[in-house]
Amino acid sequence: MVRVGVLTSGGDCPGLNAVIRAVVRRGERHWGDTLVGFHDGWEGVIEGRWQELDVEAMRGYLSRGGTMLGTSRVHPWMASDAGADGSDGPDNLARARATLRDLALDALIVIGGEGSLATAHRAHVEGLVPVVGVPKTIDNDIPCTEQTFGFDTAVAIATDAIDRLHTTAESHDRVMVVEVMGRHVGHIATWAGMAGGATVTLVPEHPFDIDRVADIVRTRHERGRYASIVVVAEGARPVPGTMDVAEPEVDRFGHQRLGGIGHAVASELEVRTGFDTRVTVLGHVQRGGTPTAHDRVLSSRYGVAAIDAVHEGGLGDMVALQAGVITRVPLDQVMGHLKGVDDDLWDTANALFEARLDDPM
Ligand code: F6P
Repeated sequence: MVRVGVLTSGGDCPGLNAVIRAVVRRGERHWGDTLVGFHDGWEGVIEGRWQELDVEAMRGYLSRGGTMLGTSRVHPWMASDAGADGSDGPDNLARARATLRDLALDALIVIGGEGSLATAHRAHVEGLVPVVGVPKTIDNDIPCTEQTFGFDTAVAIATDAIDRLHTTAESHDRVMVVEVMGRHVGHIATWAGMAGGATVTLVPEHPFDIDRVADIVRTRHERGRYASIVVVAEGARPVPGTMDVAEPEVDRFGHQRLGGIGHAVASELEVRTGFDTRVTVLGHVQRGGTPTAHDRVLSSRYGVAAIDAVHEGGLGDMVALQAGVITRVPLDQVMGHLKGVDDDLWDTANALFEARLDDPM
């Protein structure tokens, strides 16, 4: 029996509540643990804002999107804002240390994406608190695991949107550009593009030539198909020197704000082809609402594995899905790189799109 903290960090994601629920049910019923949930990620650790979690408190949350604990991108090593008189802000790390000491936590389960897992790793190796990581993100970009929870829901939402756009595209003989999330990788775009029968899909892993994209759309229309769906990952970029795109802004957490490439692609396509073109930016809709059954199950498996890891020598690890089995990998193997779309899937996707992007014109 130990005392374990849980926090959700970074962007919200369908399945976060299902992970927390699984941690609590398994922890309380199987291991006899007491559980503490921090509010708004590390901010709650720094500011001492937390609540006890038990099976009763988690009723009704399995199917709920978002996070019942709240989330933020704050972390203990971030400088605090200076006081109004210009004095140094409070020492976030010291405050976090004090909260963890007062609560006498034996471990902290951090449910987060790339940046949050890096912070969790730092907290572990620098002795702030022993951690277990759970890979969260709709982007599916965390290495060492086949899938993050939230990804399946995002793909389902994007695919549904593409299905709906097909009917308008066909009724009006239009080109529909659909911008999806995914940050610096094209998993959501590739899966939704394949599942939604896109004409062509643009991903960050393969810079695109806008002339080639226009050529594919034009050729398709010459063959008698007047509607096209072009899926664009928010992180997709043109081959350098072929098209002007704005540099993304960076927020106060050093987090790039992506988005806007869909509009740039649409206007270039309209100019080049003369076809009526419209843009849909799916944005945060992909992160909202209820998780799919697949994500509820994956989240629950991760949650059980995370609390088991606390008891079975897995401190410093991230729970992961490998060959369909839940396992653990040391957090230091996960740091510093992203998992992109693998070549095999990209090849298959391109075999199904109207034409290969990398074929010569
Ligand atoms: O990482 C998840 C994600 O939804 C990305 O796909 C997207 O670029 C980013 O978060 C958006 O972040 P924010 O919610 O801060 O706008």
